[in-house]
Amino acid sequence: MTDQNSKPWAGRFTEPTDAFVEAFTASIGFDQRLYRHDIAGSRAHAQMLSHIGVLTEAECQQILQGLDQVQAEIESGQLQWSVALEDVHMNIEARLTALIGDAGKKLHTGRSRNDQVATDIRLYLRDEIDAIQAELTRLQIALIDLAEREFDAIMPGFTHLQVAQPVTFGHHMLAWFEMLVRDGQRLADCRQRVNIMPLGSAALAGTSYPIDREYTAKLLGFDGITENSLDAVSDRDFAIEFCAAASLVMTHMSRFSEELIIWASAQFDFVDIPDSFCTGSSIMPQKKNPDVPELVRGKTGRVNGHLISLLTLMKAQPLAYNKDNQEDKEPLFDVIDTLRGSLKVYADMMAALTIKRDNMERAAAQGFSTATDLADYLVRKGVPFRDAHEVVGKAVRLGVDTKRDLAEMSLAELQQFSDAIGDDVFEVLTLQGSVAARDHIGGTAPVQVKEAVARARKRLI
Ligand code: ARG
Repeated sequence: MTDQNSKPWAGRFTEPTDAFVEAFTASIGFDQRLYRHDIAGSRAHAQMLSHIGVLTEAECQQILQGLDQVQAEIESGQLQWSVALEDVHMNIEARLTALIGDAGKKLHTGRSRNDQVATDIRLYLRDEIDAIQAELTRLQIALIDLAEREFDAIMPGFTHLQVAQPVTFGHHMLAWFEMLVRDGQRLADCRQRVNIMPLGSAALAGTSYPIDREYTAKLLGFDGITENSLDAVSDRDFAIEFCAAASLVMTHMSRFSEELIIWASAQFDFVDIPDSFCTGSSIMPQKKNPDVPELVRGKTGRVNGHLISLLTLMKAQPLAYNKDNQEDKEPLFDVIDTLRGSLKVYADMMAALTIKRDNMERAAAQGFSTATDLADYLVRKGVPFRDAHEVVGKAVRLGVDTKRDLAEMSLAELQQFSDAIGDDVFEVLTLQGSVAARDHIGGTAPVQVKEAVARARKRLI
């Protein structure tokens, strides 16, 4: 049986907590990862209490030193987390009080676990967003470097996964980069709402002590303080927003993954994913599987799932704090871990990726990828676009029947479809001519890729 005396809230209880209920309601198994931020919040709170005269300077010093000691014990693995003490907040407070006595018992003055936990999560998530942004930037740099190196490598561009028009590989990498730019902006925007301090809301209504919330917020590096205590202790919008932003990052990486997996197949053979990012098969000796992109594609599912979990967790919750909110942590933590890990492994993998230019170019020469160029050529010769489209369609038909590309036909053969075709047509039918022609901001021409690379470097945050 649990010792009721160890529970700070046990005063009004006459029976001990049922052993299973104790384990069922505890969060220490997963919220212990908040310990550093919980201690940082307590330090600032104690300093504020001393600043307003609720704690003496000596008591504050005792608390700060005691918290240092608790942190050291946690980090050296000495502190035994207790399920009876329910969560990280009460575990730390109990250990502090065991170490320093009465001053430890005064720390919780003017505060509740409700505003404490909301503050801890925000502090923790703020740090994690910064770490995630750093990984995101590393991945962006890897993509820019790849785009710069392979700015003029020609590959087939697809729509409907059918060959559409030739594009440059650099242009393709910068398309991925753009998705990540928006992701970085979304995370930065989300961080603004994360970095607001709920501390001082206490349980739900505020506190009767003359607290100085701005003082605490400044110590903790918050950009502002929450306006309404009822909202502040119950709000988890910031976590939902973060998960939504994370879902989009993962969705983007799942798209990159799908392409890499296709490109790494024997049928495409466009890229070489380094061995260090692949695994083999226990039964098929020839196999080299693109596990990293596959896993990232798969992990997108759990992140999307956690977003739905949090939305559903908050749906229809009455004000203010409810124990339901304890369920915010595991989904949020798993999203953080999954996103951070996926970005890290992707940044490393993309920095080591090599491409097979010849195979890409050969593939781009198939599927009549310069058909649009022939139509544009005819338009320049005065043929209306719709007529040009039909002319080229007929030429493609001949190519399909005789298994040849447009560039492999003779001038006479092409001229049977339109007398506007002259011997200058072959320049536009080459892959190089096709990509070079798309020479404007946002186009695939190698010169444009070079300029886009330079701009991309400047846009990194
Ligand atoms: N472990 C709780 C949570 O994660 C802390 C707040 C609990 N507050 C309370 N009054 N039971 O939400």
